[in-house]
Amino acid sequence: MVSSRDGFIAKKDGSVSWMQSTDNYEQGITLSEEEVVDFVNSIDCYVMGSHTYEHALELGWPYGDVPVIVLTHRVLKTDRENVKFYSGGLERLVNGQLKLSFRNIWMVGGAMIAKEFIRLQLADDVVISFMPIILGDGLLFFDYIGQEQPLHLKDVSAYRDGMVELCYQVIKG
Ligand SMILES: NC(=O)c1ccc[n+]([C@@H]2O[C@H](COP(=O)([O-])OP(=O)(O)OC[C@H]3O[C@@H](n4cnc5c(N)ncnc54)[C@H](OP(=O)(O)O)[C@@H]3O)[C@@H](O)[C@H]2O)c1
Repeated sequence: MVSSRDGFIAKKDGSVSWMQSTDNYEQGITLSEEEVVDFVNSIDCYVMGSHTYEHALELGWPYGDVPVIVLTHRVLKTDRENVKFYSGGLERLVNGQLKLSFRNIWMVGGAMIAKEFIRLQLADDVVISFMPIILGDGLLFFDYIGQEQPLHLKDVSAYRDGMVELCYQVIKG
């Protein structure tokens, strides 16, 4: 997920303008349009909590026709054929369903779901993109996850706009 430097992934008012940076880090990289398209095309399936889903509907649907699994206990409806709703155990969803059909599963968020994926060791990798801003308040990424989880640093990329992306492998016990 995208995070502020102080670990927030969303502001309380839901605004996302803080994710656009005007910083200029001269040694930073910029992805070409082709690289962005290749990256997006590498994702076979998205999983997200219902709050993240509802926020994405408000902001403008960015997931195209790629399969999307939305976690909710409510009865939600959609006209999109690629959106499916799921309620229940996450281990059953990931190991019993998704891993049988998809290779690269992108857990979009938000905080509630991300914490569960890490707590249950269902995430193989955690990618955190730190924006050059301190928000001071909001929804924390790892707020009181309740257990220790060692990580292996796989990759670091610094971007021209000051974003620093850390890619970790979750060390499974
Ligand atoms: N910075 C980033 O990169 C980033 C990424 C993603 C999201 N976000 C932001 O994070 C915020 C949302 O995060 P959040 O932590 O409030 O919520 P969330 O994780 O998106 O969704 C939580 C909801 O998921 C459902 N849920 C969770 N586990 C479930 C299960 N096992 N079975 C069925 N349903 C389950 C419940 O929905 P019901 O209440 O419907 O039952 C729960 O209330 C939004 O503002 C979003 O824009 C930021």
